[in-house]
Amino acid sequence: MLSYIIKGGKRLEGTISVSGSKNASLPIIAGTILSAKTTKLYHVPNIHDTQITLKILKLLGCKVKKERGKIVIDTKPMRKTEIPEDMMRQMRSTVVMAGAIISRFKEATFSYPGGCEIGARPIDLHLSAFRKLGIHVEEKGGFIHCTCDKIIGTEINLDFPSVGATENIILATVLAEGITTITNAAMEPEIEDLAKFLNKMGAKIEGAGTNLIKITGVKQLKEVSYKIMPDRIEAGTYLCMVAATGGKLKLLNTEPEHISPILNKLQECGCNIETQGKVINLEAPKKLKSIDIKTLPYPGFPTDMQSVFGSMLTIAKGTSVIVENIFENRYKYTQELQKMGAKIQIEGKMAVIKGVRKLNASKVDSHDLRGGAALVLAGLCTKGTTYVNNIEYILRGYENLEEKLQSIGASIKIKNN
Ligand code: UD1
Repeated sequence: MLSYIIKGGKRLEGTISVSGSKNASLPIIAGTILSAKTTKLYHVPNIHDTQITLKILKLLGCKVKKERGKIVIDTKPMRKTEIPEDMMRQMRSTVVMAGAIISRFKEATFSYPGGCEIGARPIDLHLSAFRKLGIHVEEKGGFIHCTCDKIIGTEINLDFPSVGATENIILATVLAEGITTITNAAMEPEIEDLAKFLNKMGAKIEGAGTNLIKITGVKQLKEVSYKIMPDRIEAGTYLCMVAATGGKLKLLNTEPEHISPILNKLQECGCNIETQGKVINLEAPKKLKSIDIKTLPYPGFPTDMQSVFGSMLTIAKGTSVIVENIFENRYKYTQELQKMGAKIQIEGKMAVIKGVRKLNASKVDSHDLRGGAALVLAGLCTKGTTYVNNIEYILRGYENLEEKLQSIGASIKIKNN
């Protein structure tokens, strides 16, 4: 087990550069399967989740090379169409590889995906969309076998704007016969980035970033180089970490427009924020103000920032109320914060956080990626030594977290227990 040892209570100040987006990299790496050619990707973050995705590609027969600043993926030699079960269990987003594999090989086998423990995460929307596209889906013994003669474009209306299902449908239909439309599509910036990448390859995707996406099937795709968008959740995490210590941060390589709901909430908390092109400057007050938050699909407040804000608000002035509308079990981190003296009450979807003057350093356990980041935030703003255990979850999604935090004055080290 790996842990972070954090000696907190220091005001953080400095400059951090945001890495490429985890959630954009994963479907884009899957998208390289479609071309059966070589793709060069820049700004893929070096984190556990991208490493697993690239490992799957290698197991399926692709050639993957890491060169300075880029990853070169040759999917031509790929022959296998079964995603190994142990890989599926490690990471939920491996499911988006299915759409790309079926599209190219007319068959794919995979199992139910795993990932963070943040509640039931079914894939019914993915599978029902596949069926609508003429794919035969058979679920047997925990495995899902998909086969088809061809994929035929159709109209798909999603019951919920699922990010993964929207990406999977796009990947499955870029090379399909005819036109596919997705209504009530997810509008997250990572979907726009996937569409930009695929369109650069020669795909014809219109409307990505809106709730109506139209995909006109093309015959083949070409070799491209592509730079992944900045990680908006990583950006939000560092802004909150610095805000919680009353500090000052210059954040480089950001897309401020993608994180406007996060910036608005930080301003409500009393932070002074200025944006200039791809740079965000934040200056926090000594004491943050309490705020209310409701998580919603994009462009609403992102569920992935809920825990990080929740942790920051434990030391704000007054009472904050959070409503988590996307995932059903995303409050596990609050039990850990309670060990540090936080006053949080959970009632169903709602968390009521009564700000305290300070938290007490303690030993806490991560249960998921963003919940883990929330505990690091708590450690950073708390005097004394906080031990955050099971940081394997955090390493899934944050590139060089401890180096980045050290560079702005934090005392944080990894310990192998
Ligand atoms: C993606 C992000 C994740 C983020 C989430 C919501 C990646 C790799 N992960 O996850 O960080 O928290 O979007 O912004 O991009 N659902 C169903 N049936 C389905 C699919 C989803 O009921 O077939 C439900 C889920 O259980 C959940 C909600 O829809 O309650 C949102 O899920 P979805 O948008 O699909 O999230 P992911 O793509 O898994």
